[in-house]
Amino acid sequence: MVKRNESGSAEWIERDHAAVTPAIYRYTDIVFQRGEGVYLYDVEGRRYLDFAAGIATMNVGHCHPAVVEAICQQARLLTHAACHVGYMTPYVELVEAVKAVAPGVLKNGKAVLMNSGSEAVETGIKLARYVTNRPMILAFTDSFHGRPMGALALTATSTVYRRRLSGLLTGVYHTPYPYCYRCPLKHKSPETCGLACLNLVEKALQTVVPPEDLAGIIVEPIIGEGGYIVPPDGFLQGLREICDRHGVLLIADEVQTGLGRTGKMFAVEHWDVVPDIVCLGKAIGGGLPLAGVLARADLMDAWPPAAHGTTFGGNPVACRAGLATLRIVQEENLIDNAISVGDHIQSRFREAQKELPIIGDVRGKGLMVAAELVNPDGSPAREVIKKVTKEIGDHGVAIIKCGASSLRIAPPLIITQEQADEGVDIIIEVLRRYQW
Ligand SMILES: Cc1ncc(COP(=O)(O)O)c(C=O)c1O
Repeated sequence: MVKRNESGSAEWIERDHAAVTPAIYRYTDIVFQRGEGVYLYDVEGRRYLDFAAGIATMNVGHCHPAVVEAICQQARLLTHAACHVGYMTPYVELVEAVKAVAPGVLKNGKAVLMNSGSEAVETGIKLARYVTNRPMILAFTDSFHGRPMGALALTATSTVYRRRLSGLLTGVYHTPYPYCYRCPLKHKSPETCGLACLNLVEKALQTVVPPEDLAGIIVEPIIGEGGYIVPPDGFLQGLREICDRHGVLLIADEVQTGLGRTGKMFAVEHWDVVPDIVCLGKAIGGGLPLAGVLARADLMDAWPPAAHGTTFGGNPVACRAGLATLRIVQEENLIDNAISVGDHIQSRFREAQKELPIIGDVRGKGLMVAAELVNPDGSPAREVIKKVTKEIGDHGVAIIKCGASSLRIAPPLIITQEQADEGVDIIIEVLRRYQW
């Protein structure tokens, strides 16, 4: 257990509270100073195993020497020039590298780079609306696509993000995502429901969303913020088929799932689906702010010059960090590691579930694992999760939640099985105290 000396951290937390908006919610009370590999260190030198990876971002861990070197080299050459002023070689190289690992027709696609996942999402829907000249977007409940007013119109994880903000982007319609552990339609199992959530998309297209008005369907191939929800087989393939039938674009939000986290380079590959537009963020910048949209070349080519842009998007230092990160993910076989360590973590929680019924569900793919905490009546343990993340943090593991009450386990992809066990042991020890 990590012993907490309150003074240094407490002082920083007090200063933060005096200076920073309370709208930023903190899942732990750790005051970070530095990171190395899978570990973070606070201002008092205490070490924490990082199960959050900067919200599923730091795929090769903290301060990987090759990433640091790439950043330093580029910082000495050029930190900013802006994509509208001229051409930037790291921008081109990163887009080429992402295309090389993209599925299907996206290998020959074209991209634009932005600064954040939300911007990538808004870029994706702008592109879809422009090229189809159709006004509507279909999204799913439990999805998270970002907080700025455009992306927020698509986000449907919690009313806390939307309260007092009505009048968002219009033309957005939501149908239920197949969250099978808590089926929105109260079916018993995805094996017997006949993909009811997919049928509701069909129904929406017959009743409220005229397909000829629909530009795109945006979907997280595996839901991130909303609870690490893996859809049943057939769901994404069904969406692809519906899109093809109606000339609607399939937009995959792979901001959290993309670039190796789920055990595939792109999560859509678990179901052999190729979207028309894919939104990327988080890991693409290797720890620096960067995001992007990769789309079919014919769609990008239909977007006229100056229709879109940004000052910082595709920043050369961020692109170099992203390139180094992608290279390490490939060279060090981190996708294989994500599968084996992720499976191990799931099996550890399934084992723990036998003696700890507070763990209602264990799910995920690769190193995107959720352990959903429940009350005795099966409802989400919303109050418990808030205390549990802080307590796990106090005991040496940086962790956050997803969905209403799930522990979100998304460590760097370099994590070893031994390190994963170290973190899972601490979590299980904390959960024992909340056992009912
Ligand atoms: C799937 C998904 N889309 C979009 C976003 C928004 O990204 P950002 O916070 O970088 O704007 C997130 C962030 O968590 C995400 O998980």
